Amino acid sequence: MSGKVVIKFGGGLITDKENMCTPNLDVIDSLVDVLSKVEKQIILVHGAGSFGHMKAKKARLAEGRLPDLNQDISVREVREDMLLLNKYLTDSIQRYDLDYSTYPPRDWAIGTGPDFKGNLPLSDGITVVFGDVVNDYEKEFTILSGDDLMYRYATEIDDVDCVIFAMGGVDGLLKVPPSEATENDLFKTWSPDMNFEGKHATEFDVTGGIGLKVTRASMIAEKGIEVWLVNGMYPERILELIEGKTAIGTKIVSGNC
Ligand code: IPE
Repeated sequence: MSGKVVIKFGGGLITDKENMCTPNLDVIDSLVDVLSKVEKQIILVHGAGSFGHMKAKKARLAEGRLPDLNQDISVREVREDMLLLNKYLTDSIQRYDLDYSTYPPRDWAIGTGPDFKGNLPLSDGITVVFGDVVNDYEKEFTILSGDDLMYRYATEIDDVDCVIFAMGGVDGLLKVPPSEATENDLFKTWSPDMNFEGKHATEFDVTGGIGLKVTRASMIAEKGIEVWLVNGMYPERILELIEGKTAIGTKIVSGNC
């Protein structure tokens, strides 16, 4: 078993974003089915979708402690909801009889952004982590995105040969908003010197939407590591990439290429 894969299942892929705390169970199983076919060590990061963003947005948790709001209930609830979403994933992993360990970031990470503090836990089986409400030295608590976890895992552990951001509903990075896009509007490769019309759904998203994903993906590519954005509704594309082939999706390349 050589090489490691760092993969994110975005919250918009594994949950129904419109309905609070609703998992897409069939999608989760189809993604875990792919993981069961991979002969490399896997680091799996998952997002929050409707298990995190709605309540975190309402209680403004990304801003940390605010004087006039009672945020404690929301901190507790979002943490519980994230454990629940994590359990849907790990139940599926168990059904496939795969070895794994989950490390909730609230237990080991402090702060947010690419420089958050904490030593990255690693398991011999699948390492599972997720976007979470974590403690913060200045703000008391904050939201750590799975995209930041992706950056740190992809660039800090040895021997990573493939980094994949699996998303819901889009084939990769598009030249126009998804509702207007045809198949010709998919960037096959993208580097930071190219523009894209990223829409950040601020009414839903408390982290950074596609903008944060692309920023972290470019930072990973800059280190010479292969990074892709793909549509996780087609899990075979994920497998193709892990096997070193190309697939429909966007390969992020560093600005210097
Ligand atoms: C967000 O994590 C975590 C919470 C809101 C608790 P992500 O930023 O990784 O989640 P998605 O992928 O956008 O849903």
